[in-house]
Amino acid sequence: MMVSGRIFLAMSLDGFVAREDHTLDWLDKQQVEGEDHGYEALMASVDGLIMGANTFRKVMSFGRWPYGKPVVVMSRSLSAADAPQGLRDKISFTPVSPPEAMAELGRKGWRSAYVDGGRLCQAFLTERLIEEMTVTIIPIILGRGRRFLPETAGDIDLKLISSTSFPSGLAQCRYLVLNSSGASA
Ligand SMILES: NC(=O)c1ccc[n+]([C@@H]2O[C@H](COP(=O)([O-])OP(=O)(O)OC[C@H]3O[C@@H](n4cnc5c(N)ncnc54)[C@H](OP(=O)(O)O)[C@@H]3O)[C@@H](O)[C@H]2O)c1
Repeated sequence: MMVSGRIFLAMSLDGFVAREDHTLDWLDKQQVEGEDHGYEALMASVDGLIMGANTFRKVMSFGRWPYGKPVVVMSRSLSAADAPQGLRDKISFTPVSPPEAMAELGRKGWRSAYVDGGRLCQAFLTERLIEEMTVTIIPIILGRGRRFLPETAGDIDLKLISSTSFPSGLAQCRYLVLNSSGASA
């Protein structure tokens, strides 16, 4: 079974997902109480998350694990011992490539996965493992930081499904990734 990869992330207008030191203060200050950006709906639609090692480290720093669904951390440097004891049944680690990770999850019965992290999203997009991508633009220019898509080899064609603006000033575009291995387009 082919697993459909989904991206859902927020970036500054100049394309950064975090400051150099991984802080997200610029993102937090834009969160408007009660405004629904579709995060819960996305979470409900996936079997679990696949995240990069840096995103995992950041989430760990929150002091509270926010996910109910299984999380697979892609890393060559982290292992099971890096997950807190109480969460070892929810978090797993793998050093394999994105196609291998998706194939493994497909064998476990996953149908869709939320792929998170700047460099990891880039790797999954390049491998054509992403079917759908929702990008929310935060009304701020950071000037420097960690890029959403540092560099991709060749063009990746997208089809706009919807664009929405929110009273808070956030602008959200949802795209279908053309020619992805899971997409029907
Ligand atoms: N704005 C948003 O919506 C949003 C969303 C998610 C994350 N963030 C933030 O953005 C920052 C993300 O940083 P990032 O882009 O540097 O990290 P990332 O994608 O979360 O993690 C990158 C790390 O994942 C591991 N990895 C394993 N397989 C990989 C592969 N095929 N390709 C690339 N990496 C692979 C590598 O670590 P090893 O050396 O351990 O193998 C690599 O250094 C974090 O601060 C996070 O909190 C923001």
